[in-house]
Amino acid sequence: MSAPDQPTTRNLSDEALTAAVLASFEQADSPRFKQIAQSLVRHLHAFVAEVEPTEQEWVAAIDFLTRTGQISDDRRQEFILLSDVLGVSMLVIGINHRVPDGATESTVFGPFFVAGAPEVENGGDIAAGAPGVPCLMSGRVRSVDGTPLPGAVIDVWQADEAGFYDVQYAGLEQPRGRAQLRSRTDGSFSFWSVLPTAYPIPNDGPVGELLRAAARGPMRPAHVHFMVSAPGYATLITHVFVAGDEHLDSDAVFGVKASLIAPFERHEAAVAPDGRALEEPWYTLDYDLVLAPAPGAQEDQR
Ligand code: BEZ
Ligand code: FE
Repeated sequence: MSAPDQPTTRNLSDEALTAAVLASFEQADSPRFKQIAQSLVRHLHAFVAEVEPTEQEWVAAIDFLTRTGQISDDRRQEFILLSDVLGVSMLVIGINHRVPDGATESTVFGPFFVAGAPEVENGGDIAAGAPGVPCLMSGRVRSVDGTPLPGAVIDVWQADEAGFYDVQYAGLEQPRGRAQLRSRTDGSFSFWSVLPTAYPIPNDGPVGELLRAAARGPMRPAHVHFMVSAPGYATLITHVFVAGDEHLDSDAVFGVKASLIAPFERHEAAVAPDGRALEEPWYTLDYDLVLAPAPGAQEDQR
């Protein structure tokens, strides 16, 4: 017998079926869970009603999701990649990181962050042997009103000139192209690395199949990742993209924002301001990382 107020689950037309499934979540304890589950059912049923999949197509969809799970492990998260290429990651970021004017915008985290990267002093070289054209990256961590934020924790990670992160090489002994540093007392930071290059997202799994079926490319425009945190401020997860990259308008994961594109300036062989002698052309980036107040934090809480 069905519970009071619960429609029967028997002999349902397609429309009555949707109503019955929605009603089956009516008694949920958590209002938020109920809202999410019912919305999922509503959209999923509308999707199926619109597409009218054949049974073979439905089995193929289940198989796709099954393989997406099976290829995922500690090092590879194909579901996040799927969320990225479907633009869902950027939607979730947009909803959760509406920053005040002047604050640095957020973008996707990506799968290549590794906690516990080597701590590097300002002025140090985070490339640590990663191949590429030398690039001196610097800037200031500050609040929207210009107040410098000393001691901010800056995680930085990037691909080398071949387009690979260190974790994509088998048997590499040391981290390369990643580090953690702290902003100086005036909020400034600087480190040597290599000029970022464009690279393809992992596309040897189900997400790659999806991209190929859509005749979409796997490339991400050249970028360097930053994660910056300071007490009283929202942690910023972002990239700085290389101005002029040919993939800025065709990012496989839709992560580019105009405010995150910066010129990487080329210099001829010279002695850099810190005394490093460069025998080949090299690059500089100057980009401020501007933090928004943490939700609920006072603007002047420092
Ligand atoms: C990345 O930039 O590292 C990345 C982001 C999303 C998917 C794959 C890679
Ligand atoms: Fe990346």
